Amino acid sequence: MTWGRRSTRFLAGRNLPAPPREEWVAPLLFRPMSYRVAVCVSGGGSNLQALLDQLQGAAPARVVLVLSNRPDAAGLDRAREAGIPAEVLSDPADASEWVTRLGRRDVDLLVLAGYLKLVPAGVVQKYTGRIVNVHPALLPAFGGPGMYGKRVHEAVLASGASETGPTVHLVDEVYDRGRILAQRHVPVLPGDTPALLAARVLAEEHRLLPEVVLAAARAGRPVPLSATA
Ligand code: GRF
Repeated sequence: MTWGRRSTRFLAGRNLPAPPREEWVAPLLFRPMSYRVAVCVSGGGSNLQALLDQLQGAAPARVVLVLSNRPDAAGLDRAREAGIPAEVLSDPADASEWVTRLGRRDVDLLVLAGYLKLVPAGVVQKYTGRIVNVHPALLPAFGGPGMYGKRVHEAVLASGASETGPTVHLVDEVYDRGRILAQRHVPVLPGDTPALLAARVLAEEHRLLPEVVLAAARAGRPVPLSATA
C-alpha cells in the first residue's frame, strides 16, 4: 500500500488501522537534534579526546570534524580512531578553505583545542560568537601572542601567583582577547614545575571544555557557564 492511498483512506474516515506509529511519526518528530562541533588541534589533542569521550550517547552535541594545520598532529589520529573526519588545512591562512570545510559539515561551533595559529579574520567574521578557545591560564593574565604551552606555566610560576587555571573564551581577531565564558581555579603548589602545573591545569581543562560545549549545545550558542547553572 502506498502512502497516498493509505492516507486517503484514513482521511476518508474509513475504519482502517492507523499505520504503525514509527512509520510516520519517527521521521518527523524524533530526528535527534545534535549540535555539530568542529575541533581544531595542532598537537596531542587530549582536550579533543575529552570532547570525544563526553559527547556521546544522549549528549546534545557531536564532534563532526577535526581540523589541523599539521599533518602529524596526534589529535588527527584520535579523530580517525573515533571515526570522525580528520582534515589537514592546506593553507591555514586561507579563510575560504576553512569556510568550505566547515560549511560542508554544517558546523555550529568551532572549538580551538590546542590550535596554535591565528584563525583567519574571514572565519572569525563568518562564525562570530561561535568559536571558542581553551587557554591554560586565568585570562586576561598570561595570554596573548607567544603565550602558549610551557611558556604560560613558566610565567605563572615566575609571577609568584598562588593560583592559575584554564579559561574558555570566545575567539575574536586578537589572541586570547574574546569574552570569557568559564574559568576554573587550580592552586599553584610549593615545588611546582611548569610540567606539574601544566598537568594539573590540563586535567581541569578536560572537565571544563566539555561543560562549555554542552552548555552551548543546550543554549544553541556559546554562553557563560554561570548563565546556564
Ligand atoms: C592545552 O593546554 C590548551 O589549553 C592549550 O593547548 C593545550 C592543548 O593540549 N591551548 P591538548 O593538545 O588538548 O592535549
